[in-house]
Amino acid sequence: MVNKTEEPEKELVERLFSNVESEMPIQFDSMWDANAKEGNFISKFIASKYKEVDAVDINDYTEAYKKNLEHPNANFFVMDNRDYISQCKKTYDLILLEGPLCEIDGGTAEHFGMIDRLVPLIRPTGNTVLILNAVLEPYDYDSEANRSWKEIRNTFYGKKDTSKMSWQFMAPFYINLFHKMGLNVHYYDRVARRSIEKGDHYSIDLMLVVVERAS
Ligand SMILES: C[S@@+](CC[C@H](N)C(=O)[O-])C[C@H]1O[C@@H](n2cnc3c(N)ncnc32)[C@H](O)[C@@H]1O
Repeated sequence: MVNKTEEPEKELVERLFSNVESEMPIQFDSMWDANAKEGNFISKFIASKYKEVDAVDINDYTEAYKKNLEHPNANFFVMDNRDYISQCKKTYDLILLEGPLCEIDGGTAEHFGMIDRLVPLIRPTGNTVLILNAVLEPYDYDSEANRSWKEIRNTFYGKKDTSKMSWQFMAPFYINLFHKMGLNVHYYDRVARRSIEKGDHYSIDLMLVVVERAS
């Protein structure tokens, strides 16, 4: 099988940013990295553009994250994303949601348990950039191990089967969700991430959305 794209993650990120910057001004002061882990997928490429980075993971990856990012102003908080959102007094120019591709204790997966709580972290005025994984085809969709993930996905997207999703479904789904959260969507774009790794088939679009609070 051939990968959908062999383009390295750094270049995918650069393409997303050069596309959006050619369309509208965006700010590069502060970034929130949810589900940060060691930051070695795409966080490090994005973080280098921002003056300050706040990272959150329920497990402690502080040392590896700071080492990977080599960023002078990176902070790491070991806590649940949802607790961070409810306690946070800051807003951000960019929010990165690279959630777990499995079910996590408490019935969450991907960004499903937190995306609708993000509004307090969105800038009060002006544009905020959101970057998230839109998982078009999860790996091992029908396996017993992924049963809970599958159920959570199906509930979130309101579909009986989410094993093969299209960008044509995903784009309006998220735009509608952001509208319901009280956000105006000014721009959206996507790039395809690697679709096959270690023999597991999956397909993920990295989605970039520019939102602004409606009031
Ligand atoms: C796919 S990994 C993220 C990869 C990461 N962005 C990177 O570049 O290395 C998912 C991470 O989400 C974290 N996680 C899962 N549930 C969480 C929660 N409720 N709050 C905070 N972090 C969580 C896990 O500990 C795991 O490190």
